[in-house]
Amino acid sequence: MATRNILKYGDPALKKISRTVLNFDERLAQTLDDMRDTMYEAEGCGLAAPQIGVLRRYCIIDVGDGIIELVNPVIIEKEGVQYESEGCLSVPGNYKTTKRPMKVKVRAQDRHGNKIIVEGEGLKARALCHEIDHLDGILFLDRAIKEQ
Ligand code: NI
Repeated sequence: MATRNILKYGDPALKKISRTVLNFDERLAQTLDDMRDTMYEAEGCGLAAPQIGVLRRYCIIDVGDGIIELVNPVIIEKEGVQYESEGCLSVPGNYKTTKRPMKVKVRAQDRHGNKIIVEGEGLKARALCHEIDHLDGILFLDRAIKEQ
């Protein structure tokens, strides 16, 4: 078990665009393992590599049906819309209502470089969108709708 420090709001790394993963090596596997431990310890349902200061395009989610690792994820389909309260391990204690698609389909790779397709609806769609946003330096605060 190895946990990493989660960068907090204001850290410039959270605003950067991450780079594509080209090497599916032991270092990637180790970092994914550490991210899993870090996410579970923090009781989050998702974590993206830039949140631990690694500016590479990968993230993990677990919305209750097991861990999913997504390397170089791209949203290829979106459907519907949802408005729900959202938070982030990098912005502790802050929750905002965001606008997200109700369903998404994501193309990605696993830790070995194999192509995978992940579909999500509701919370899972939101988690996928939230974590993929992190890879482009976008925080949920940027997606928050103005509340009356
Ligand atoms: Ni987040």
